[in-house]
Amino acid sequence: MTYERWTLRTENTSYTVRLSPDGPWAELDAWGPLGVEDGPSALDWSRRTHFITPADAAPAEYLPYGLRPFAGSELVASRPDGEDRGMWWEFVGAETDEGALRLAFHDELLGLQSVLHYETVPGTDVILRWTEFTAASRELRLERLDSAAVNIPVTGAARLTYLTGQWSQEFQRTQLDLPRGTFSIGSLQGVPGHAYAPWLAVQDGESPAAYGIALAWPGNWHITAEAEPGGAVRVRAGRVPHEGAVIIAPGETLATPQLACAFSPEGLDGLSRVWHRYERHLSGERLHRPRKVLYNSWEATGFDVDAAAQLELAKTAADIGAELFVVDDGWFTGRADDTGGLGDWWPDPAAFPQGFDQFIADVRALGLDFGLWIEPEAVSPGSRLYAEHPEWVYRVEGRPGRLVRNELLLDLGRTDVQDFVIGTLDRLLGTYAISYLKWDMNRPPTERGRPGAGGLDLDAEHVAGYLRVLDHLRSAHPDVTVEGCAGGGGRIEHATIARTDVVWPSDNTAPLDRLSTQYGFLHAHAPHVMSSWVTDAPGIFDPRPRSLAFRFVNAMCGVLGVGADLRAWTPEQRTEAARWIGRYKEVRDVIHHGEARLLGTPEEPSCGVQFDAGDRTVVAALSTGRLDGAPLLPGRADRLRLRGLEPAARYRDTATGTSYGGAHLLHYGLPFAWSADHDADLVVLVRE
Ligand code: DGJ
Repeated sequence: MTYERWTLRTENTSYTVRLSPDGPWAELDAWGPLGVEDGPSALDWSRRTHFITPADAAPAEYLPYGLRPFAGSELVASRPDGEDRGMWWEFVGAETDEGALRLAFHDELLGLQSVLHYETVPGTDVILRWTEFTAASRELRLERLDSAAVNIPVTGAARLTYLTGQWSQEFQRTQLDLPRGTFSIGSLQGVPGHAYAPWLAVQDGESPAAYGIALAWPGNWHITAEAEPGGAVRVRAGRVPHEGAVIIAPGETLATPQLACAFSPEGLDGLSRVWHRYERHLSGERLHRPRKVLYNSWEATGFDVDAAAQLELAKTAADIGAELFVVDDGWFTGRADDTGGLGDWWPDPAAFPQGFDQFIADVRALGLDFGLWIEPEAVSPGSRLYAEHPEWVYRVEGRPGRLVRNELLLDLGRTDVQDFVIGTLDRLLGTYAISYLKWDMNRPPTERGRPGAGGLDLDAEHVAGYLRVLDHLRSAHPDVTVEGCAGGGGRIEHATIARTDVVWPSDNTAPLDRLSTQYGFLHAHAPHVMSSWVTDAPGIFDPRPRSLAFRFVNAMCGVLGVGADLRAWTPEQRTEAARWIGRYKEVRDVIHHGEARLLGTPEEPSCGVQFDAGDRTVVAALSTGRLDGAPLLPGRADRLRLRGLEPAARYRDTATGTSYGGAHLLHYGLPFAWSADHDADLVVLVRE
């Protein structure tokens, strides 16, 4: 059979879509390494259907309910009166451009045009997919408006890898095998949330090839995977309408969020590098702005912020080599604890008796940049802002507003609220010498309503407001580095990553807990966006003690920061810290711009990350404390097998001078004789 087919090619992959011979829809022909489309489609099927329709069995790229009635559809559209809840569209035509494809479908009866968009991302193995809807002459109701569906042929059970958690335990890598049935993850918290990242990897059982998707949407979302009887997994992903449906007005065009689709023949590890490269692309030229070593005083002083103690910390931070000092929560009026102050973004004169300006000048005189925390979407019930604008918070008329962390949430979908936030940020950044802004958010919307504005798409409006403010920050204050945070890692996805410089994965900074969070995080996100601090925190989930070296090496796998109470550190600890920070500065370009490989897992005795750039290989190696490989008589050193090196080349350890053959490092690995006093190492190898 011949079909109309279109192939999109990235650096190493190709994605072929065809028009189905069975009906008016597009379906996947092949997706994998370059050339994978050269042969009969692995997704072809017998065309025998009992009790279902061909559309239900097809590897369809996108189908409305109506045409695909039983097996899960991406689009549910109807007239506002609920009539015609379904759609039976026709193919209109295809348009192609360099690296882009658009397939248009039209439903005459509802008057809805749907265009499936595909776009390759130069320099990456990512294909972006999204869908655009235009209503012709009447208002329509979209109950489901997914971005895309992807199809993966599976011979046995599909292996799904996803990132799960809760506050303080984000990004735990979790796996399950799905032979049949439906798997679903998502969030209704108005942010991606701590429970699941909007990211999924799918493999065919033990097969190394890995497919991945990630949704760029900082609001409500879902990813649903269905293992089908014919041996395939079909994954649908998209935003979730706030009140059950989005209304699209006549003449209006609505675009879904983008779904990034990635493939790697090298398993989850290779897939992580595809995502890292994509996020380097998202950072654009800001990737090349060195991410400074930060000191943040939150864990040292909490809400007890005053100039004298902050300056004492800043002085010590500068002494050990920090380059930036960030004052976290607690710097503004009315913020003695978490019950007040939010919304009244004025420096507390009692905390800064010589003036905030003078305080910042004193920090800067130490050679440090200055950064500030803010939670722009939040408001405390006792604040002046709330007294002046009670109508600015989300609320449902006649219902009590619940407090979460003693705060209410501003309706950032309102233009006046956005203007207030922009005005506040402009005022702070314009008045004070601030080079770094940490944007936090500590509560989800609960009573999410805007009285008198029923039927509005509040989730999308909040997202648009949030992105508008972030875009404003980028254009009006291009020199300010922005850290994205939501009570830890509650809002980390590609729309945020494209508009911030770093993100905060978790409030849990305890070493072994952090190791497991970072291990999961680095599957989906790049080292150059991963903010990570060395602190004094004991483990919340794993209280085994770890050395200062462990804490530093662990934090160096991303963007190094320090959050410990340095006032209590001994001179020896400060000297050691200065040494680690110095070493980090020598290799951070390799860590942030190189290719990263995850070595081992936190469940094994040794775990680490290998970073390669040019002729340098940096290995951050960490002992999980099991000491299985320690030199207990007659034990041997544990080994971390490196990857991607040249077998015939030689690699010299710049600290010890030991020279290794590439084949040796690939086959046996780098040795680490862990002991109770030696639980981490940073090895820098230079190719000779
Ligand atoms: C939650 C953040 O994740 C923390 O790092 C800190 O900024 C606190 N909020 C401050 O309230």
